[in-house]
Amino acid sequence: MEKQRNMLVTGGCGFIGSNFIHLVARTRPDWRVVNLDLLTYAGNLNNLEAIEAGNSYRFVKGDICDQPLVSSLFEQERIDTVVHFAAESHVDRSIVGPDAFIRTNIIGTFTLLEAARTAWAKRGGEQDGPIFLHVSTDEVFGSLGESGYFSETTAYDPRSPYSASKASSDHLVSAYCHTYGLPVMITNCSNNYGPYQFPEKLIPLIFNNSRTGKELPVYGDGKNIRDWLYVTDHCQAIIEVLEKGRSGRTYNIGGNNEKTNIEVVTLICDLLDAKIGLLPSGSSRNSLITFVTDRLGHDRRYAIDSTRLKDEIGWQPSVTFEQGIEMTIDWYLANRSWLETVINGSYQDYYKKMYA
Ligand code: NAD
Ligand code: TYD
Repeated sequence: MEKQRNMLVTGGCGFIGSNFIHLVARTRPDWRVVNLDLLTYAGNLNNLEAIEAGNSYRFVKGDICDQPLVSSLFEQERIDTVVHFAAESHVDRSIVGPDAFIRTNIIGTFTLLEAARTAWAKRGGEQDGPIFLHVSTDEVFGSLGESGYFSETTAYDPRSPYSASKASSDHLVSAYCHTYGLPVMITNCSNNYGPYQFPEKLIPLIFNNSRTGKELPVYGDGKNIRDWLYVTDHCQAIIEVLEKGRSGRTYNIGGNNEKTNIEVVTLICDLLDAKIGLLPSGSSRNSLITFVTDRLGHDRRYAIDSTRLKDEIGWQPSVTFEQGIEMTIDWYLANRSWLETVINGSYQDYYKKMYA
C-alpha cells in the first residue's frame, strides 16, 4: 500500500500542475494536496473546479518567493513531499522579459528549498521526508543536431533565458542534496501537450487559430523538432518517481515522439478539417500556415532517452502522439468555453499583440 502523504504542490493551477492534481485525486486518494499558486496569467482556478476543498485538497493563493508564507505552510500542513511545478514557462516571454523568470524560477526554488531544509532538519533529517521533487525541462541540455538523445549525464547547455533559469534551479536543487543531504529528485521532461495548456504554446495556439480561421505562425523553416509527451503520461511518471525513485537521482522523461513543428501543425489542420469541416472558403486549414521570423536563439532539436525511467521505475508512455493529439483536439473542441475564457481574460493583451 502506498503511504499517506501531505504534499505541497506548487503551480497546481497551471497546465501540468492541474493535470497532476486531477490524476492524484483519481488514483491516490490518500494523498493530501496543498496547492500553492500565485495565479499569474498562466494560472487558472477553473482548471480545478472539479476538485473540492476538504481533507484531501487545499488551495492557497501565494508566491513561492514569499518565505514566511512558504515556511508557515510547511509547519501548519506538516508537508512531507514537495512537487515543484511553479515557474514562468514560456520561452518567447523569457526572450522579451526575462526578469520574472529569474525571480520565480531561481529565487522561488531557493525559497522552497530553504523551507524544505528547515522542516527536514526539525524532523532530525529522516531520509524519507520531506522529499523535494523538482519538475524541470529537457531544454536545460541545449539543442541537438540530427542524431543523438539527451540522457541524465548530458552536460547542461541552456540557451534561452527560460532554460537558463530552469538550469539554475536544477543546480540549486542538486546542491541542496549534495551539501545538506536533502532528499531531492529532479525530472527533466520533453514538451508536453494535452488539456488545459495555455494557448500561447504551439499546440493550443494552432488549434485555436486554425479553428477560427486565423494565420498559423510557424517559426523559421518549421523543421525544428520537439519530442512530444501527453501530459497525463508525464504526471504518471512523476507519481511513479515519487513512489519508486531514488533520492539524489535525476530522471529524464520523454515521449519518444519526435516531430517537426510543421508536421504537428499539418496534423492539427487535417484533424480539424475532418472533424469540423473545411474553411468557409472550401480550403483546408493548411492554407493558413504562415512562415514567420524565427525565434531568437531557437533550439533546433530536443529528444529524450528515457531508458533510466523505464529500467529503474518501469514507466513508459501510454499513448502515441497520434492518439494523444486526437484526444487533445477532442478536449479543446468540447471545452471551447475554457479556451475562450482564457483568451478573453488576463492573457488578452499578449494574445492580441502577438496574434491579432
Ligand atoms: P504553466 O505556465 O502552465 O503554469 C505555471 C503555474 O505556476 C501557473 O499556475 C502560475 O500561476 C504558477 N506560478 C508562476 N509563478 C509563480 C509564483 N511566483 N508563485 C506561485 N505560483 C506561480 O507551466 P506548465 O507548462 O504547467 O509547467 C509546469 C512546470 O513543468 C514548469 O516548472 C516547467 O518548467 C516544467 N516543464 C514544462 C514543460 C511543458 O512542455 N509545458 C515541459 C517540461 C517541463
Ligand atoms: P512552444 O510550445 O513555445 O514550446 P518550447 O519553446 O518550450 O519548445 O514551441 C514549440 C515549438 O513550436 C518551438 O520549436 C517553437 C515553435 N513555435 C512556432 O513555430 N510557432 C508558434 O507560434 C509557437 C508558439 C511556437
